[in-house]
Amino acid sequence: MIKKVYFEILPSTNTYLKENYHKYDDKTAIICHQQTNGHGRLGRNWDSERKNSITMSILLKPKTSKNIALLSLLTSAALFDVIKNYHNDTKIKWPNDILVNNKKISGILLESIYKNKFEAVIIGIGINVNNVYFPKSINHKATSLKKELNIQFDIEEIINQILFNFEKYYKDFLKDNNSYIDICRKHSAVIGKDILINGQKVKVIDILDNGNLLVYDGNKTIDFSYGEITLENSY
Ligand code: BTN
Repeated sequence: MIKKVYFEILPSTNTYLKENYHKYDDKTAIICHQQTNGHGRLGRNWDSERKNSITMSILLKPKTSKNIALLSLLTSAALFDVIKNYHNDTKIKWPNDILVNNKKISGILLESIYKNKFEAVIIGIGINVNNVYFPKSINHKATSLKKELNIQFDIEEIINQILFNFEKYYKDFLKDNNSYIDICRKHSAVIGKDILINGQKVKVIDILDNGNLLVYDGNKTIDFSYGEITLENSY
């Protein structure tokens, strides 16, 4: 069972855990009602709204850092399973964005902690649930459940569903069962599509068992392990 610890307000659940991970056990979720300095990948900001967005970070202390990058896909699958229940047009944009109606509804920020040796991993999850206003710069490519469906959602219920799925897939992960990769393949927003990787156009062939993206550049296939990808005509 993942233990939930709540805070009214934090600058960032990821930053809080980076500084305090030693105080908590493996499989603890830090959840806050308001996040004042949330951040995403590549140094971007992550905006959220008090009590209307989900901002939480799951702390894991696996024995090794082996396959740790797969946790992005695992978390994507856990989020997908929940969001898909509410909206039919839900897809996973490798490795860790969830799109609804081709707009980003959720992002994941995975950070590992090393102090001489591997100590822990923090999986930050941000989901737009009942927030409907976005900064102008991202309004065309960001969405929330309420923006799409015009219904007020029970945040707590969604958190519980996510943690339940996460734990199920994490048990698989520890047994080297990659069940969640199949979910990421089956509901991928990118397989079969042209994407841009660092400005270069390539076609996505598959997601490999090691979690890497297999792409074709017109001459050869390339095994792509990490980075920011851009979908043509979309986010
Ligand atoms: C991204 O899409 O770039 C990742 C966004 C991750 C946002 C979450 S919100 C909870 C946790 N705390 C943070 O500061 N970031 C993550």
